[in-house]
Amino acid sequence: MPLMTWNEKMSLGVVGIDNQHKKLVGLVNELYDAIQAGKANAVLGRVLDELVAYTESHFRGEEELFSRARYPCSAEHKREHDALTGRVLEIQAKVRAGVQGTLSLEVMNFLKNWLIDHIQGSDRKYVAYLNAARETEISEQNQDLNVV
Ligand SMILES: [Fe+2]
Ligand SMILES: [Fe+2]
Repeated sequence: MPLMTWNEKMSLGVVGIDNQHKKLVGLVNELYDAIQAGKANAVLGRVLDELVAYTESHFRGEEELFSRARYPCSAEHKREHDALTGRVLEIQAKVRAGVQGTLSLEVMNFLKNWLIDHIQGSDRKYVAYLNAARETEISEQNQDLNVV
């Protein structure tokens, strides 16, 4: 059974972002399945590396959108991203050093709950700003094209 399932409550109504969040949920589940299957540390390390890399690129992508949307809570949001990144890099370093039991159920539940809380709480807050910025960009483009 997967550790977590993506559901509509996690949807922000922004397809590109929702797809990235779905991919993150998928990678957390992949890591959980590998742990449950008793995979070797090297295998767990590879799955974890993919999760860490994808998480970092997702965070960077969101932060770029914040500057475009002039999102007023971007610094606070980025602090949450940085705190999680710091935590997963610590976990990654321990797994790489072969510390047994690093990827405990507690750690996996922490990742799962962080993702759910962050998406449904912090990420949801930027959606209105993003949509407003997109509308402005579209109407500016239309003006340039003399559509309106
Ligand atoms: Fe996100
Ligand atoms: Fe975020």
